[in-house]
Amino acid sequence: MTLTESIAIERVKQSRLPQIDFNNLGFGAHISDHMLVADYKDGRWHEPKIMPYANMMMSPAMLALHYGQSVFEGMKAFKNPEGVVTIFRPERHHKRLNRSLERMCMPAISEELFLTSLSALIEVDADWIPTTEGSSLYLRPFVFASEAKLGVKVADEYKFIIITSPVGPYFSKPVRVKVEEEYVRAAEGGTGFAKCAGNYGGAFYPTMLAQKQGYDQVLWTDAKEHKYIDESGAMNIMFVMDGKLVTPKLSTSLLDGVTRDSILTLSAELGIQKEERRVSVAEIEEACKNGKLTEAFGVGTAAVVSQIAVISIHGKDYSLPAIDANSFQLRAKKKLNDIRMGIEADKHGWNYVVK
Ligand code: COI
Repeated sequence: MTLTESIAIERVKQSRLPQIDFNNLGFGAHISDHMLVADYKDGRWHEPKIMPYANMMMSPAMLALHYGQSVFEGMKAFKNPEGVVTIFRPERHHKRLNRSLERMCMPAISEELFLTSLSALIEVDADWIPTTEGSSLYLRPFVFASEAKLGVKVADEYKFIIITSPVGPYFSKPVRVKVEEEYVRAAEGGTGFAKCAGNYGGAFYPTMLAQKQGYDQVLWTDAKEHKYIDESGAMNIMFVMDGKLVTPKLSTSLLDGVTRDSILTLSAELGIQKEERRVSVAEIEEACKNGKLTEAFGVGTAAVVSQIAVISIHGKDYSLPAIDANSFQLRAKKKLNDIRMGIEADKHGWNYVVK
């Protein structure tokens, strides 16, 4: 029996689909009818099950709640005009998930379990994939320590769950970011490169302070000196400076974004030179002043390519020039969307077809 055949499916009695306004989705407001759940016990992952999305019984002593063994991924599925359903670069997301799991001492998930689970769940909820422009089915696989024990230890039991959500754009308007010079998201050697839940929880407080000051997101800097730009928490950051595409190089304190990699890969086809290197706050400030910084944008699965309108540095707001259809970020966004929707040839083999 193949893994696909071994996945038991319990369907909902009544779909919630008629309640969804596909023209007004927002991000993460609706969860599709079904979820997939697999248990890790006795040293191995057991067969996943697909069941109606519902609350679950968990022990209050569950280790994830106390010591934070919890990691996740974010991906998107699309339905192209011919009705073919694809997932964007799930193999790369799978590799990153396993890097996160390893960092958190959690058991790896095989590529077969990952891809088969995603495909099976998406097939069951295929009607939840939006087709309106800028929309997709967001896929949220996550793994957490489910063992009930208070001792400070690496858990022996875990759950791997996938839920999905029809989503529209993450940001509804250009983003205002504040360069953070007091708080820290991640230090070299820490867990910044892993997609663990705690990275997000720890970012809430400084982000809330920035929001009170009128910004949407924080632009994190290095933990030692606050001199170099890392990322923006919900997305990686890219600049067009002096006609070049510039982005902070990967390190243990920043997430290896799949959209980041996709845009860097497409940069040659889009006719721009790329630079992955340390990017200092001082050079961004100087480039804002002398007009060499023509674009800044966030890139991520949820954010896709999100325009940055204002960067606050040392308490001073720098407004970026307006963008138009020839701006790099809009050309990059269109190319990425066209590849994902099957409008442009998928030369890099990024679209994984759901059977
Ligand atoms: C994503 O882009 O998929 C993310 O995980 C960022 C955020 C929505 C948590």
